[in-house]
Amino acid sequence: MTKTLRLGVAGLGVVGTSLIRLLHRRRAGFIARAGRACVLSAYSARHKRGRGADLGDAQFFDSAVAMAASADIDVFVELIGGADGVAYESVKAALGRGLPVVTANKAMLAAHGLKLAELSETHDAPLFFEAAVGGGIPVVKTLRESLAGNEIARVSGILNGTCNYILSRMETDNLPFDVCLAEAQRLGYAEADPTFDIGGFDTAHKLAILASLAFGSRIDAGAVSIEGIESITLADLAAADELGFRIKLLGVAERTPHGVEQRVHPTMVAKSAPLAQTMGVLNAVSIDGDAVGELTLVGPGAGGDATASAVAADIVDIARGIRLPAFGRPAASLAEADRVPMQRHEGGYYVRLAVVDKPGAMGAIAARMGERMISLEAIMQKRASKEAAAAGVVPVVLMTHGTTEASIRDALDHAVQDGVVREKPQLIRIEREGS
Ligand SMILES: NC(=O)c1ccc[n+]([C@@H]2O[C@H](COP(=O)([O-])OP(=O)(O)OC[C@H]3O[C@@H](n4cnc5c(N)ncnc54)[C@H](OP(=O)(O)O)[C@@H]3O)[C@@H](O)[C@H]2O)c1
Repeated sequence: MTKTLRLGVAGLGVVGTSLIRLLHRRRAGFIARAGRACVLSAYSARHKRGRGADLGDAQFFDSAVAMAASADIDVFVELIGGADGVAYESVKAALGRGLPVVTANKAMLAAHGLKLAELSETHDAPLFFEAAVGGGIPVVKTLRESLAGNEIARVSGILNGTCNYILSRMETDNLPFDVCLAEAQRLGYAEADPTFDIGGFDTAHKLAILASLAFGSRIDAGAVSIEGIESITLADLAAADELGFRIKLLGVAERTPHGVEQRVHPTMVAKSAPLAQTMGVLNAVSIDGDAVGELTLVGPGAGGDATASAVAADIVDIARGIRLPAFGRPAASLAEADRVPMQRHEGGYYVRLAVVDKPGAMGAIAARMGERMISLEAIMQKRASKEAAAAGVVPVVLMTHGTTEASIRDALDHAVQDGVVREKPQLIRIEREGS
């Protein structure tokens, strides 16, 4: 048997401790698969204390950067988190001395992925990050290796379990956003400050990683247009249901005539689509390749054991001696990411309006749409609540056929200026199956 692979694990929180338990529990399996044992040789955390996992006689480092320089480790496993600071410094130090790195840190990859991929190649030190997107779902390997024979047209996914939990609970139990968010926080699915999740930023980091793997572009989180789920109401979910859709926060990277769009926003997804059927904290990713067609991976997007499963897969690859460019192609060949403005997006739209209750109002709105060649697929007038009736407005839901974002926004701006629509219109993009 080849010599034991000595791991240095930086960060012994949710994922780090689960990984250490997994290393013990699956010791024989690692040897059978990798042909060598994988053992914890060193670890680093802020505090040296019991972790509910057997740390054996592994050496403790209070500095992860110092651990990255240790001669007693063969792999540096970064499970601290954060785009910068000690996570980034220690990973740079490890790669810089030719040490393979495994990380679950999407924030760091979104900010510094290209630089790290270059360092990895310069020093012939693999950089693997299966756990950074979709937790336990093997989507990085799928894009980087299993679909290498495909040209990818589109990757779309539910990449944040907190948002999916909130939207699922709102829909199935008819509970408002704030109640579901508070519940998600109580259950530990959402952070005390949930902005990063519900604002779509976490999804954007993960999407930027997937887009780079799928389209061979330099990772660029700034190229992602981002909208969160804060504005979604029960009225939207009920209207979506009536029209045959569910509302999901999707990250979508898609080849279009204007370049590769990268966008994160609440989306109307047909109920028959696999992404619409992914409920609760689960994550899912659909990939459309020219040879394979469309495939969808569904599974746990977070949690200690599921994430440790992905980290372990990378460790086994390193133990096997597998070497691959971080984003599946040499860093020098990665092209600059397109920055396609959202205004150029083409697709169908769901629109919910508070229409002034007077003759001709609907006609005026339809005229504004017609001027911009926007045709309507469905119009539903909803019963006005007591408050809406008192304010003299009627809720109306429209679904458009394909148009551009610039056109629909312009039409709605004019309708508001015409005085036939009150309040800010709700606009949700529709994702057609196979579109
Ligand atoms: N949790 C998930 O389900 C999940 C899923 C996918 C990806 N991830 C990613 O996995 C990574 C870890 O997440 P987590 O949930 O396990 O985080 P966590 O529970 O907050 O644990 C973070 C660990 O990092 C240690 N740490 C913080 N600052 C440090 C420093 N300066 N030097 C050394 N260690 C330091 C902490 O030490 P102390 O314990 O001593 O405070 C703690 O053990 C993140 O990048 C996250 O995005 C997590």
